[in-house]
Formats: sequence, C-alpha cells, structure tokens
Amino acid sequence: MSSQEQTILVTGGAGYIGSHAALALKKAGYNVVILDNLSYGHQELVDDVLQIKLVIGDTSDRTLLDQLFTTHKIDAVIHFAAYIAVGESVQEPGKYYSNNVASTLNLLSAMLAHGINKIVFSSTCAVYGMPKEVPMTESHPHNPLSPYAASKDMVERILSDFDTAFNLKSVAFRYFNACGADPGGLLGEDHDPETHLIPLALLTALKKRDSLYIFGTDYDTPDGTCVRDYIHVNDLADAHVLGLEYLLSGGASEVFNLGNGNGFSVREVIETAKEVTGLDIPAIESDRRPGDAPILVGSSQKVREMLGWNPNYADLKKIISHAWQWHQQRHGEVKR
Ligand SMILES: NC(=O)c1ccc[n+]([C@@H]2O[C@H](COP(=O)([O-])OP(=O)(O)OC[C@H]3O[C@@H](n4cnc5c(N)ncnc54)[C@H](O)[C@@H]3O)[C@@H](O)[C@H]2O)c1
Repeated sequence: MSSQEQTILVTGGAGYIGSHAALALKKAGYNVVILDNLSYGHQELVDDVLQIKLVIGDTSDRTLLDQLFTTHKIDAVIHFAAYIAVGESVQEPGKYYSNNVASTLNLLSAMLAHGINKIVFSSTCAVYGMPKEVPMTESHPHNPLSPYAASKDMVERILSDFDTAFNLKSVAFRYFNACGADPGGLLGEDHDPETHLIPLALLTALKKRDSLYIFGTDYDTPDGTCVRDYIHVNDLADAHVLGLEYLLSGGASEVFNLGNGNGFSVREVIETAKEVTGLDIPAIESDRRPGDAPILVGSSQKVREMLGWNPNYADLKKIISHAWQWHQQRHGEVKR
C-alpha cells in the first residue's frame, strides 16, 4: 500500500515535536489525523499552518478513541502526547504516571480492539539516568531519576510485553535534547512554561525574560558547564517517518536513540545564540542542580544503520538560526 492510502494518528500533534512530525508525514504523502487535548498544544498551528484534521480530546477517553478509530481507518499511531516537565514530575508524580502511563495503556487497549498493532513512541534518553559511558548506546543500563523518566521507561516495558502478548509492534525513540524549528519558519518551539536552554536563550535575547541561569560551572567538561546532545526537530521528524515505514513494512519492535552525536556545552549554546541574534543574553552563573549529568551524548549508530537515518542539521549555528527565525516571528519585535 502506498503512503497516499495510509492514515496515521498523531497524538500530541499540536505540540512541538508532534507538529513537526505531522508536517513531515503530510509531505511524505500520508493522511494524518491529530489527537490533542490542547493542554499544551497550539490549535492555530494545526488548523492554519498544518491544515490537518484535529480531534480535540484526551488519550484517556476510551469512548472518544473508539469513535476516532471507527470514523478513521488508522494504519498506525505515532504517540507524542505526554507531560514533559521533569521538575514538575518530581512534585506531582501522580499527574505523570496517570497521563504518560495510564492514558497510554488506554490508547494501546483501544488500538488493539480496533486491530491497530503498530505504534511509534516518544521515549527519552532520561531512561538511562547518569551515564556510565559516553556516547550512550541503547544497551546502556536504565536508571530513570525522575517520575517523568520512569513513566517513559514503564511504557517501553509495556510495549515490549504487549508485543509478546498481542503482537503489538513498536518503535520507541529515545530522544536526546530536541531543538530548532522548521527551516521554512512555519513551526517551532513554544512551551509554557519553557524549560529548554535554546528557547530560554532566545527569549532572553528578545527581552521576554531578564536573564537565564547556568546551573554549574565546575563540571569536568571543557568549559565547566554541562554538555548535551541537541537534535534538530526536523531530524527527529524524519526519523519518525522512517520508523513508521519500518513498521508498516513488517519490521520487528525496536528501540533507537535519536541524538546528534555531538555534544555542545551550555556556554557554547549561549555564545552561539549571541552570535546568531547579535543581541546580549545575560546569564547568571548558579550552583549545580541535583541529578544533572556532566555530559549526555548519545550514539545514533543503530538508527543510522537500521533505518538509514542521518541528521541534516547537526550544526549548532544552523539549529539556533532556525529557532531564532521562529522566535522572532512568534514573539514579535526585537527590543535593543
Ligand atoms: N522536547 C524534548 O526535548 C523531548 C525529549 C525527550 C522526549 N520527548 C517526548 O516527546 C514528546 C513530545 O514532546 P514535546 O516537546 O513536543 O511536548 P509538547 O508539550 O509540546 O507536546 C505534547 C502535546 O501532547 C498534548 N497532550 C498531553 N497529554 C495529552 C493527552 N493525554 N491527550 C491528548 N493530548 C495530550 C499536549 O497538549 C501537547 O500538545 C513527549 O512525549 C515527550 O516526553 C521530548
């Protein structure tokens, strides 16, 4: 069957990564239906930019899922819908286990009842906890350090058990730090509250915030600040199309890291953001945060070899330029 005849449900498609993946699926010729409760998503991006069918609702709503799977003949699901704030998950673990685990179970059970047995799942490198070696491979031991990370680890386990019991085939992608924006300027990152470094730096450049914090300057890294693996959201989106195609062509369940393979330090990100924007970005040096690893960089060798994935935007300046284009458009005039 060609992609033109196949319909994919994207949960969380009004959010940051889901909207970019929905655009990539549309460009690849798939019919797409988005399910999003709009708790954090942006309806206008789905209606006006993506022009994709949006079902407003929650993955915990079995009646709604039954209706959706009856109305639309769904061939596979890409499941982005989740709460994502690590700090909040420590304060409110029940909220995270309920939305990220229980609602996912509800989704899986509805899928199976309607004969849908293929799912691509958004997992995270946070399932590994503190790195024992860098770059981290998929066989690195798991030690999730927050309820958020544990919720993703639990779903990975559920997916594996559901394959054994019900032949549910899954691809779980463990993302490192998603960043950047659609190079065409149509979509980008707009979380509220925002906790990610690149948008925080750009919002500071735009004077939407006074400053940003550097947590820890005495790590054993080249400039003393934490090093992270930043992966462009369009490269993530492309991987989801490849993961989907792999499952639709009969692939077995798999787990893949999705990272750029290059680490960039907090200082490098801020300096590059200054260079790209030409604006000042005041940064306050602060103490280390508990639980932050000095270096988190992933090996993407497996996804490159098995799915033929290659990042197009591994360059930090390009990543920040795309994000900057979006932020200026979204957040208005630059105040100098
Ligand atoms: N952003 C990152 O760096 C990163 C890293 C690793 C993993 N992930 C995972 O990727 C996925 C997408 O992240 P994002 O940054 O795009 O987040 P996001 O908050 O922008 O998008 C999530 C979307 O899901 C929706 N949603 C949440 N719960 C829902 C529910 N029960 N029913 C329907 N819709 C619901 C929200 O309204 C939102 O539009 C998440 O599963 C997240 O855990 C993200």
